[in-house]
Amino acid sequence: MSDPRKLYIKTYGCQMNVYDSERMSEALGPNGYVTVDSPDEADMILLNTCHIREKAAEKVYSELGRFKGLKAEKPDLKIGVAGCVAQAEGEEIMRRQPMVDLVVGPQSYHRLPEMEAKAGQGAKVIDTDFPEEDKFERLKSRPKAKRGPTAFLTVQEGCDKFCAFCVVPYTRGAEVSRPVSRVLDEARDLVERGVREITLLGQNVNAYHGEGPDGRDWSLARLIRELSEIDDLARIRFTTSHPNDMDDDLIAAHGDCEKLMPYLHLPVQSGSDRILKRMNRSHDRDSYLRLIDRIRAARPDILISGDFIVGFPEETDEDFRDTMRLIEEVRYGQAFSFKYSTRPGTPAAERAQVEEAVKTARLAELQALITDQQRAVQDSMVGQEVGVLIERAGRLPGQMVGKSDHLHAVHMQTDLAPGSLARVRIVESGPNSLAGDVIG
Ligand code: SAH
Ligand code: SF4
Ligand code: F3S
Repeated sequence: MSDPRKLYIKTYGCQMNVYDSERMSEALGPNGYVTVDSPDEADMILLNTCHIREKAAEKVYSELGRFKGLKAEKPDLKIGVAGCVAQAEGEEIMRRQPMVDLVVGPQSYHRLPEMEAKAGQGAKVIDTDFPEEDKFERLKSRPKAKRGPTAFLTVQEGCDKFCAFCVVPYTRGAEVSRPVSRVLDEARDLVERGVREITLLGQNVNAYHGEGPDGRDWSLARLIRELSEIDDLARIRFTTSHPNDMDDDLIAAHGDCEKLMPYLHLPVQSGSDRILKRMNRSHDRDSYLRLIDRIRAARPDILISGDFIVGFPEETDEDFRDTMRLIEEVRYGQAFSFKYSTRPGTPAAERAQVEEAVKTARLAELQALITDQQRAVQDSMVGQEVGVLIERAGRLPGQMVGKSDHLHAVHMQTDLAPGSLARVRIVESGPNSLAGDVIG
């Protein structure tokens, strides 16, 4: 047999792209590829791209520019663009960067082996369809190699919500859920290979409504309860959820399903009703706050995380103050915040834009508040006893690093191996992580 060819995949964007990159690399295994960590030695480079903000998309073009030299040295090198930029830009990518051989949209990865073969014969190949068939069912089942303690598992894709700023409904298509049996099979398989914690993924994961073995649609809560029956699976998480799809059972699961971790990413984007309406978010400030109250009633120690956009078109100072007040009310344990970025083709792109300097100032102010809150929540863990899943060795001798139930990074001295669950007393809170003593 000939030497394996080398595949380098660079992943941008959300966790769903991380999962897709794993699946793409597995799908190209039968074509004779092994995955490598550097583009310099690769026979094929795949960029798995993100289109969410302008900068994310521009990064792809500048990265492609950098590969020109490599391609000149190695004419057989194949370059592919996958992910949301591939979906949004299609042929335009090959027009701007003619050295690209292959463009594949996020719903067509199961066609990648065939596309790679064609590209190998010198063809330029593009596939940005939203095919009827499910890419995950057509992808081969996952190889049996041993895995680390944590894994992502995509259960839902796409979005029907059409927030006025967002490209996802266009790049990922309509909401689709994978059948329950497929998810359970894949989860059992991951657990057999050493995984102890699974994060269920979806652009709107709590809109999950996959077909169950009883022929009915199952909710995310029901799926989580079923997954928690897998003995060696210790922890379950999910992301990203939408406030409108937090049903009563999912809230209750946070209180009564032991394996469901006390962490919830629940983006709100803005605290101003005027802006939320213009964003087409279909929830308001008050309904979001009441929802958080109900979730906290079910699980008082839950860590809430969020996403914010500042400088959405027509956002006034007063609107921004409403966002700051909402943050003060919620007390976030973590949050991601962004300046509004104009996305051509979305409704908000046509509206009166906020000045860049104003966006910059608002973002700085909001991030300072979030940083204080994050730090306060992290500091409040000192003295508490928490569960930690050990993931890897730390930098110091004898040190291991893991994640707490609340998703804080925790450093500790221990002989326990990756994949072990420890009870840890937190003794110190640093800038980005906690330190603790293993007590059991
Ligand atoms: N489905 C998820 C969000 C996916 S996109 C949800 O609704 O919560 C991840 C985050 O990117 C969003 O929550 C939003 O904060 C940010 N985002 C999306 N489009 C953006 C844009 N045009 N400009 C700036 N930030 C944006
Ligand atoms: Fe984008 Fe809104 Fe859908 Fe989230 S819910 S992916 S922000 S359109
Ligand atoms: Fe980016 Fe597409 Fe994810 S636009 S955030 S990679 S769904």
